[in-house]
Amino acid sequence: MAEAGSFAEKVKQQADIVRVIGEYVRLRKTGQNFTGLCPFHQEKTPSFAVHPVRQIYHCFGCGAGGDVFKFVMEVDKCAFPEAVRTVAEKCGIPIPRPRERSPEERRENQQRAALVEMHKEAAALFVRQLHEAAEGKVATAYLEERGLNREAMVRFGLGFAPSSGDALLRHLKPKYSETLLEASGLFSRDANGRFYDRFRRRIMFPIANDSGKIIAFGGRAMGDDMPKYMNSPETPVYSKSNVLYHLDRAKEMLRQQDFAILVEGYMDAIAVARAGIANVVASCGTSLAEPQIKLLARFTHRVVVNYDPDTAGQAATERSLALLLEKEFDVRVLALPGGADPDKFLKEQGAEAYRKLLGQAPPYLDYLIGRARQMDRSTTAGKVAALNFLMPFVQRLPNRLLRSEWATRIASELRVDEPVLREALRRAATERRGEVKPKVDLLAPAIGPAERRLMQMLVEAGEFRDRLVAAITSAGLHRGLDTERIFEVLIAVEIAGERPDPAALGAALEEKDRRLLFEVLFEVSSEATWEEAESCLELLRSRHVERELAELQRKIEAKAPPEELMRLLARRLELQKLLARN
Ligand code: UTP
Ligand code: MN
Repeated sequence: MAEAGSFAEKVKQQADIVRVIGEYVRLRKTGQNFTGLCPFHQEKTPSFAVHPVRQIYHCFGCGAGGDVFKFVMEVDKCAFPEAVRTVAEKCGIPIPRPRERSPEERRENQQRAALVEMHKEAAALFVRQLHEAAEGKVATAYLEERGLNREAMVRFGLGFAPSSGDALLRHLKPKYSETLLEASGLFSRDANGRFYDRFRRRIMFPIANDSGKIIAFGGRAMGDDMPKYMNSPETPVYSKSNVLYHLDRAKEMLRQQDFAILVEGYMDAIAVARAGIANVVASCGTSLAEPQIKLLARFTHRVVVNYDPDTAGQAATERSLALLLEKEFDVRVLALPGGADPDKFLKEQGAEAYRKLLGQAPPYLDYLIGRARQMDRSTTAGKVAALNFLMPFVQRLPNRLLRSEWATRIASELRVDEPVLREALRRAATERRGEVKPKVDLLAPAIGPAERRLMQMLVEAGEFRDRLVAAITSAGLHRGLDTERIFEVLIAVEIAGERPDPAALGAALEEKDRRLLFEVLFEVSSEATWEEAESCLELLRSRHVERELAELQRKIEAKAPPEELMRLLARRLELQKLLARN
């Protein structure tokens, strides 16, 4: 939260949410608001709105909403302080020096910074070795043989780790502590506990995080040395499942093109990027991990999976597909002919042929049905096997309509009885573990216009806010309403003598109430008058009376003792008269 007087609050006051969000989402002015396609869920028609006056955003589809910081936190998947910094930078607000952190935090930050620096120096050394050292000649020859010219080697920062086994150690040892050398993952220890270079006689691929800082390496053997690729271990700056190779260079194009090509290996990513298709990332290993999907989701929700067409690649494709579907990605599959991985295909067939196939990459359903068709379906057992292969993918679809569409397609493609298939699907569906995404609750009770308008007025900080609060609280008009909690928070702000800030209000509310409040705040409003407020209060009073009447009715029917009954009946008459007056 932006505390009063804090830097965050200063940034929030100066920043324009429309401009900041406009960098991520194409916004159009519609009425008093701006609208666009929601970056937090997939949609074809805009239900994402930004309110330039209230400085908040709200998605009427998925319910995401908040202030400018919340937006950056969600879209960049970062913490609050980082979001404040990002917004400040985007708006040209100078950032004060960060406050001192806890000693431990500081040590960790220093260690991470040192590790990043070490990787930068290591990468530079590897590059020099590739281009200048005598031994590097074999490596450049190998790379040239694989179709990479000098320009490409430089562009992708490729290097060479010499075979000596201590080139990097001698370079870094004078400058870094033993602890850092150990933590870097760049060295191994021999039987005597002495360090030596982890990477020897290998082509080095620098692996960067999404902001372009080198944090690890992949090293390819030149001959048939095993393993073919040796990678950095997990370190304080590198976690394999959190990184997508080439993402730092692909970012811009991922957003622009709004889709990613997902390949397996370093060489594949490089080959595709060199073909002029920059929106490519590699999962570097077999299948995609969940954090990698989250990372990708910051940039796009559409993916063409282009893994190797071998058995391992197919299995990885199918595992990744399942995960991507669950996260509501729009997925296509490009299976290249002739058993070629993207690197090999591009080398043999050229960029044009690749682009053409990329453009024709079928939706994953067609790919999967194609795979099922390859199975022997002449026997019942074969059909069952094919169905069992497809079913888990259908089950993972979060959308019921889509699931149903699929059932029809699969039934006709595999020539199985549709009702039977649907029954199987229904049974499978009940076994599904929880819904993937909480959707707006369609069964939530409708909130009357008077309540909605009063909430708006309480936020708008008009001159009669205090009178309004007095009128509501004195009669407890908000008690028992579905919006009671929202009114309580709004009233508390007025009583504390504060200026209502939508984001702060939201933070004090449960998610469902926050959504409702934001929705209301996006409703078109004109300048409020006391007459209007009065008529809204009047409606609320009636509803208050109605609620009391219903309560009385229950008590009367519950056969209260005679003297009590008399009192209840008298009160009922009173209330009925009151209602009749309105
Ligand atoms: P591949 O075996 O398909 O390698 O593994 P590749 O990318 O086609 O490599 P080249 O063309 O033979 O040089 C795909 C990816 O899996 C990871 C690497 O990231 C590789 O790029 N891998 C593979 C490893 O980490 N270790 C290995 O031993 C093999
Ligand atoms: Mn490959």
